[in-house]
Amino acid sequence: MQSVVLGIETSCDETAVAVYHAERGLLAHRLHSQIALHAGYGGVVPELASRDHIRKLLPLVDATLTASGIRPGQLSAVAYTAGPGLIGALLVGATMAVGLATAWNIPALPIHHMEAHLLATLLEDDPPAFPFVALLVSGGHTMLVDVQGFGRYEVLGQTLDDAAGEAFDKTAKLLGLPYPGGPELAALAEFGDGARFAFPRPMLRHPGVDFSFSGLKTAVMLRVREAEAAGRLDDAMRADLADGFQQAVVDTLVGKAVRAVKQQGRQRLIIAGGVGANRLLRERLRTAMTEIGGTVHYPRAEFCTDNGAMIAFTGWLHLQAAAARGTLAPPGGTVHARARWNLQEA
Ligand code: KG4
Ligand code: ZN
Repeated sequence: MQSVVLGIETSCDETAVAVYHAERGLLAHRLHSQIALHAGYGGVVPELASRDHIRKLLPLVDATLTASGIRPGQLSAVAYTAGPGLIGALLVGATMAVGLATAWNIPALPIHHMEAHLLATLLEDDPPAFPFVALLVSGGHTMLVDVQGFGRYEVLGQTLDDAAGEAFDKTAKLLGLPYPGGPELAALAEFGDGARFAFPRPMLRHPGVDFSFSGLKTAVMLRVREAEAAGRLDDAMRADLADGFQQAVVDTLVGKAVRAVKQQGRQRLIIAGGVGANRLLRERLRTAMTEIGGTVHYPRAEFCTDNGAMIAFTGWLHLQAAAARGTLAPPGGTVHARARWNLQEA
């Protein structure tokens, strides 16, 4: 079936749009990041995020359609992120997507944000075959998922408190780094030697593949306070703390990911989410997977983080599956937006 899907992503602080074509692949993708808007507040301010999506989304849809060379009359569906995410931000994308789909007389497809992250690697030239284990590590999520095929996902483990990216950002803030601090902390860690701190590797000794990062964050905070009180919190100390923290997070992520791969008897591991950009994590995962005769796959950097391409692509997969079942949705449809949404119900 020849089809073209417009994808819209507004679940957090990126407004993103893309056009995916069944035969020609990804035709265009555009993104507006709100990082500068939220930086002064040290984190995403939900109300500001919603308002900015309202301002940016329609011009971005226009620009993306123009870049793709596709007219609205050629589109088969509008796919949009329906959750999980910030409810106000989701509602902006969802209402605009359903409005456009109604006007264009095509279906609007609600997409699960994490399903789209899981499948983003398949947009690359040499995509990994199913089945695989996926490690999703972003500012909002940390989870390990067994992906048996399209629509067949088993969540193996997730974080019990902070997401890995959130732990990076909060620890970076403790060290006086600007928001979002993950990449800054990683850069600082290059100059440090954290071996002397022996920070905990949270949950690594526990069976299973759940994560917990709040204890580690507290351990770093205590060391920062100690150093501050002793007047020793200089640049060298900050770099050592950053390295100690990063080593502990990476050890934990690698340990649990490899455990999940072995437990499921898989050969392939895919990584998605912003923390997947971390150089140490990438090196350590490659080594660990090679040791067990497996491989690691990443989407290109811009599709590791939030983007419209993964939404358009996942929408196209759903459209194809619905056509095969003979259950194509009618034009327009109800607005779906859910702050929380279990992946297994997607
Ligand atoms: O997937 P993402 O762009 O946004 C969502 O959270 O949805 O992930 C952003 C997160 C932030 O917490 C950021 O600090 C972290 O990914 N991050 C990193 C690195 N680059 C981005 N964390 C550690 N090392 C990095 N190099
Ligand atoms: Zn995301």
